[in-house]
Amino acid sequence: MSEALLQIEDLHVGYIPEVPVLEGVELTVDSGEIVAIVGPNGAGKSTVLRAVMGLLHPWRGQIRLGGTEMIGMRVHDVVRSGISFVPQSEIVFPYMTVEENLEMAWFALNDTDIDKETRRREVYKLFPLLEDRLKQHAGSMSGGEQQMVALGRALMTSPRLLLLDEPSLGLSPRFLGILLDTLDELRQRGLGIGMVEQNAAMALDAADRGYVLDMGEVRFTGTGEELLASSDVRRLYVGGGATQ
Ligand SMILES: Nc1ncnc2c1ncn2[C@@H]1O[C@H](COP(=O)(O)OP(=O)(O)OP(=O)(O)O)[C@@H](O)[C@H]1O
Ligand SMILES: [Mg+2]
Repeated sequence: MSEALLQIEDLHVGYIPEVPVLEGVELTVDSGEIVAIVGPNGAGKSTVLRAVMGLLHPWRGQIRLGGTEMIGMRVHDVVRSGISFVPQSEIVFPYMTVEENLEMAWFALNDTDIDKETRRREVYKLFPLLEDRLKQHAGSMSGGEQQMVALGRALMTSPRLLLLDEPSLGLSPRFLGILLDTLDELRQRGLGIGMVEQNAAMALDAADRGYVLDMGEVRFTGTGEELLASSDVRRLYVGGGATQ
């Protein structure tokens, strides 16, 4: 049986003892695909990403990257294994320059085994704006520009899997277009991308596959197209999105 790049099985986790947030989540992300995780506020979407990064300790289940169990690893070892994460908020170091923000990514790595110049070049090629603004404090940039800094930083470690929590939040149509084009380019290079989104219609449209999470469980899964075409998914979770 061939295993996906990221394989999550029977994941149970919460923040407070006896109060489960995820109750048996099963989810995969393969190389070269964009997977959208959608669902209402409080569904547990961000919690899935935090558990993968080692920011939370699962109560039960497995999280494997390329067949290797990630549970129990410290966050920097998760990053070294090839996973990068852009969280939902506080995505840049505001008092550092763009250049310093990008270089912060390397703190998680062993200095010796990276070709810093090549990685810098690759990130500037994807986001030319960053090279123009290297000396600007990240906190003084617009929301869309900050999202580029955060994505650029996530790519500095050459991940195999990129996890993004609400990357479209607050983006203008122009920056949303840049984001989607970039994700498409990364997918073509073979990266696996897991993207949590409030904007379910946009995310499912951009994704190869999707998961609808509600109250800590996967309610629906399928291709982005199938989920968008499902009347249940549309009625409950897309456009307005409210379940209550
Ligand atoms: N640090 C924390 N301590 C206690 N409970 C938490 C903590 N973080 C999240 N929770 C709870 O876990 C549940 C899931 O939260 P999570 O942030 O994963 O939801 P989400 O699907 O990402 O929602 P949103 O769309 O609003 O970002 C919520 O009930 C939330 O209150
Ligand atoms: Mg969230």
